[in-house]
Amino acid sequence: MTDVLSLRGITAGYAGVPAVRGLELTLAPGEILALLGPNGAGKTTTLLTAAGAIQPMHGTVTAFGRPLHRRLERNARAGLILVPDTRGVFHALTVRENLTLRRRSGTGRALELFPALEALMGRRCGLLSGGEQQMLAIAKALVCEPRVLLIDEMSMGLAPIAVQALLPAIRSLADRYGVGVVLVEQHIDLALSIADRAIVLHHGRVALTGPAADLRADRHAVTEAYFGTRTGTDAGTGTDTATRRHVWN
Ligand SMILES: Nc1ncnc2c1ncn2[C@@H]1O[C@H](COP(=O)(O)OP(=O)(O)OP(=O)(O)O)[C@@H](O)[C@H]1O
Ligand SMILES: [Mg+2]
Repeated sequence: MTDVLSLRGITAGYAGVPAVRGLELTLAPGEILALLGPNGAGKTTTLLTAAGAIQPMHGTVTAFGRPLHRRLERNARAGLILVPDTRGVFHALTVRENLTLRRRSGTGRALELFPALEALMGRRCGLLSGGEQQMLAIAKALVCEPRVLLIDEMSMGLAPIAVQALLPAIRSLADRYGVGVVLVEQHIDLALSIADRAIVLHHGRVALTGPAADLRADRHAVTEAYFGTRTGTDAGTGTDTATRRHVWN
């Protein structure tokens, strides 16, 4: 099947300084790719490049078989939608207003996948819980009828249980509608529980990649990739047991 998103030999960064180097990434329709890695690894930079928000220094990005357009909204209109880590919801507006802001025609799949929002339609967004706001942020993206969804840090500030509640909707979106999803996530286990494939970035490079099931079965390899100690031993890595436990929550 033709990939809906393809990043080839991507080097991208800021003010001429690369934050991601030589990245290869592909996404098939209906596939969920977990993009993992520690703070500063280059996850957000990868999503911004994939969405066309920043231009790569080297390499090419194609979406739906075509090179990205230089204008973000053109890519969005073609179905390439970024859900940024800042959530992108308007606090002064109600849930309904947030959902219909860009598309007056209706809420589309948003309420089908997040029925809990139905009861909150008249509530101002600033009064929602963190989990509800995150649900709304993703629901807002769904109103745009994405074919590829790039989700950055869905778990930001949320308890794992709140993230767990959102994940089935992401899986349904991929399974029912064939939407390809790149999911940046700090909770490794949660991400791998719904992903088909995963990439672990470290210092802007791919440290590990493979089927999500394989990575789940080899926590040691993932932890080493995550902390950049793939070829070393545990000694002297500077990562204590508490930190290791944290990333697997
Ligand atoms: N606007 C910017 N200007 C300059 N450097 C930046 C900018 N944004 C990010 N960087 C740098 O690029 C590198 C990768 O950052 P990026 O935001 O992609 O990491 P990340 O994996 O998303 O991290 P986090 O988990 O903290 O969100 C970091 O070294 C960061 O300091
Ligand atoms: Mg980030």
